[in-house]
Amino acid sequence: MPTKKAASTHIESALLEKRVFKPSKKFSDAAKIGSLAEYEKLYKASIKDPEKFFAQQAEELHWFKKWKKVMQWKAPFAQWFIGGKINASYNCLDRHLTSWRRNKAAIIWEGEFGDERTLTYQQLHREVCKAANMLRSLGVRSGDRVAIYMGMTPELTIAVLACARIGATHSVIFGGFSAEAIRDRVNDAEAKVIITSDGTFRRGGVIELKKHVDNALKAVSTDGISGCPTVEKVIVLKRTGTEVEMWQGRDFWWQELMNEASDKHDAVPLDSEHPLYILYTSGTTGKPKGIVHTTAGYLLGAYLTTKYIFDLKEDDIFWCTADVGWVTGHSYVIYGPLANGATVMMYEGAPNFPDFGRFWDIIERRKISVFYTAPTAIRAFIRAGDEFPKRHDLSSLRLLGTVGEPINPEAWMWYHKTIGGGRCPITDTWWQTETGAIMIAPIPGAIATKPGSATKPFFGIEPEVVSKEGIPVKANEGGFLIIRKPWPWMLRGIYKDPQRFEKQYFSEFPGIYFTGDGARRDKDGYFWIMGRVDDVINVSGHRIGTMEVESALVAFESVAEAAVVGRPDEIKGSALVAFVTLKSGSTGSEEVKMQLREHVAKEIGSFAKPDDIHFSDALPKTRSGKIMRRLLRELASTGNVKGDTTTLEDFSVLEKLRQVEEE
Ligand code: WTA
Repeated sequence: MPTKKAASTHIESALLEKRVFKPSKKFSDAAKIGSLAEYEKLYKASIKDPEKFFAQQAEELHWFKKWKKVMQWKAPFAQWFIGGKINASYNCLDRHLTSWRRNKAAIIWEGEFGDERTLTYQQLHREVCKAANMLRSLGVRSGDRVAIYMGMTPELTIAVLACARIGATHSVIFGGFSAEAIRDRVNDAEAKVIITSDGTFRRGGVIELKKHVDNALKAVSTDGISGCPTVEKVIVLKRTGTEVEMWQGRDFWWQELMNEASDKHDAVPLDSEHPLYILYTSGTTGKPKGIVHTTAGYLLGAYLTTKYIFDLKEDDIFWCTADVGWVTGHSYVIYGPLANGATVMMYEGAPNFPDFGRFWDIIERRKISVFYTAPTAIRAFIRAGDEFPKRHDLSSLRLLGTVGEPINPEAWMWYHKTIGGGRCPITDTWWQTETGAIMIAPIPGAIATKPGSATKPFFGIEPEVVSKEGIPVKANEGGFLIIRKPWPWMLRGIYKDPQRFEKQYFSEFPGIYFTGDGARRDKDGYFWIMGRVDDVINVSGHRIGTMEVESALVAFESVAEAAVVGRPDEIKGSALVAFVTLKSGSTGSEEVKMQLREHVAKEIGSFAKPDDIHFSDALPKTRSGKIMRRLLRELASTGNVKGDTTTLEDFSVLEKLRQVEEE
């Protein structure tokens, strides 16, 4: 039974969803796109002839050689700006050096303990050139893969842009991933070099990154592959001063190599479709997918969406709080803002160090004007209390953004009032690792917002909500979110797995991109994202595949079987609940639960630890032996099962599970 409080919150939510917030006249007057009519005119033109629209926009980038053909679509494979030669690093750096922007701050960085560095475009360019030469000196060539496993320091951006500069495909691995997860990703990408650091500061402590890399290189997997056979060299940035082992001939200090490297380097002209990066994301099987993005189309997406959705002004200080280990960091800490010549704020540490006022303190001290964060962070701030933001002057903010998961209207209102002072539009941006850059979001000077809705599609993007049969549903009816036509910043594939690519994204509705999200569109044409409809769970804005956690759990000695589902969580959006059957002879206890959590942390990373673990003699299965996750989801969320149980093999299992749930 829902509690009284939950019921009243729900009603408030429904009322809030009906409210409309228009941008102020002042905001719209100063905006790049200042009215709905202007947005609609541009949007219509972009949909009518996307190739013409995107070709016009692409003229704003720097090209070594112009493309011959704008687009080719042989579903599911797209190519954009065919025959063009371009370099993403050049677009983010060199082209700003010919104007006054050369002395503009590109990165304003703050370490967790308050140390700071500012790099102008000219300085960043010099560092990236040196890093490009450093990689070349270690034998990295265009087309090679480089894995990057670092904390949030400027060197992370430098490493990424150095790869892009020489045409090496980067694969950034989030610093929260374990040695096993690093090994799987490095091996799948067949990376030649890993760039890491001794450690990074987080919540007052040190995360020993190099140690994890060492363990990845040593680890022996169940499939018999020992360590990472393709890795020849490891570059180690000294950041925390933590003691590390350096292997002669394999490991090199970043600082030493950089000291020897020349600061002159000509960016390599690359094909438009040259693979810029691979980024692994969770899917519906145990194996993460290496999402491949190529150069020109992706860069155009990052550039254009940053320009219009964050309505960038020359003197903005733009802060996207995402880690570069996730796609949001790729597009809105690095490529998007730097391609626009913006000033980027970058922060190394945790939002609650030394306390929950850290973000607000940074905004006040650094006069941040555009702030982009995740709903899960917002909910954590709400719980921490208003006294933290109230202590700070947040009047420099003019625009706010959210990403990663649906934002509940209450959190939206708090963000609007307490952080935005009621004056800042909020752009709720829907997109995915696969889409590369934002797809649905309010253009802030033009589109009125409704709390909880990502509103309208970006130029050239044609999303739709359809039934299982692929037929568009009526206004306000729920359905599957699809994107009808290819767009320049769409993924080009799953690394080395074209079949999985086609099956995963283009088979549900043949030839049409299926997002894996449910949504509805209201009568005003606003999109409301309802969350994943597959076995991917969004925990604190991190995508976690249930199968990945399940395979980690069953790899534990005493586990016979495991099923992982999500349940709603006030702060994280969703929490992970594991139902575990132990092998006969083993009994479940608090200690085993702890061991299982640690085991998942070791296999994947701490962020994937199940929140609840229930032991059970058996799991509910269909007669054909498939675990009925739907029933477990219901059980985990409501403590009961009301849905259809006709295909259940053994009813007593459910009864026992209910009892477990009540304990
Ligand atoms: C969810 C993050 C609602 C969605 C950029 C999507 C959202 C998944 C929103 C992608 C939003 C992202 N409103 N849901 N504004 N943004 N999502 O690949 O379920 O880490 O499919 O990319 O996050 O997560 P990913």
